[in-house]
Amino acid sequence: MGTLGTINSEAELDVITVDTPVLGKRTADRVLQAEEALAVGMHEEPTSTWETGDDNAFAPAMGGRPSAGQLSPHTTWEDLSWIRKEWDGPIVLKGVQCAEDAKLALEYGVDGILLSNHGGRQLHTAPSSLMILLEIRTYCPEVIGRLEIFMDRGLRDGADVLKALCLGATAVGVGRPYMYALAAYGGKGVEKVTNILAEELTTGMRLLGITSLDQLKPEMVNAIRSDQIAALVFIDLIISVA
Ligand SMILES: Cc1cc2nc3c(=O)[nH]c(=O)nc-3n(C[C@H](O)[C@H](O)[C@H](O)COP(=O)(O)O)c2cc1C
Repeated sequence: MGTLGTINSEAELDVITVDTPVLGKRTADRVLQAEEALAVGMHEEPTSTWETGDDNAFAPAMGGRPSAGQLSPHTTWEDLSWIRKEWDGPIVLKGVQCAEDAKLALEYGVDGILLSNHGGRQLHTAPSSLMILLEIRTYCPEVIGRLEIFMDRGLRDGADVLKALCLGATAVGVGRPYMYALAAYGGKGVEKVTNILAEELTTGMRLLGITSLDQLKPEMVNAIRSDQIAALVFIDLIISVA
């Protein structure tokens, strides 16, 4: 488990991020930072300003330095029991990445899970949220309908949103498209992203032949190919272990 959100009396929802017990290596951030450093010329940054620490302390480019006390590798499921006891409002676990943890989340009394791999920033081989949702449908379908299932990461157009909803997601989150649009064009960029997604969603619904989102169903997603990919990865794994 990772970040524990502060529980205060005014909060309506407690979202606990569980995929960041420690900071991932974030190689892409390092490459970006190196590129930026080279672009401005390394001589502009005297070594006296460099951070000390182990290799992983070499600062990732954006939001990479955790605030002191923000991350904890010691948080456990038992801590969740305590939080559940102390907090009457809804709890959502953010960063659930496998069927087993979805099942445990239900057992520990949370209200929802947010399937996420932290935008691919923590571990570059972490599964996509759509794959996790397929895994849940296969190995613990009982959580669908009993937990709110949110998801984010890599949902980039209306069709992605439709796939997630078909497979049982309550709602989806879109991160970087909004962040980039906001950075580049401010509020107008945010409006534009929303309009593009809405238009793609409407087109997708027309192509599926539906008039309302509650007509979406799992059969509308052809997951056979992803099953085959998963099987190939599994076979590959067995061969490399053997
Ligand atoms: C710059 C940046 C900072 C982030 N910081 C946090 C964070 O502090 N806590 C957290 O739970 N997720 C954090 N995330 C992950 C996002 O909440 C979200 O899971 C992810 O961006 C969704 O993927 P997408 O950007 O591909 O849509 C961060 C993502 C980015 C890009």
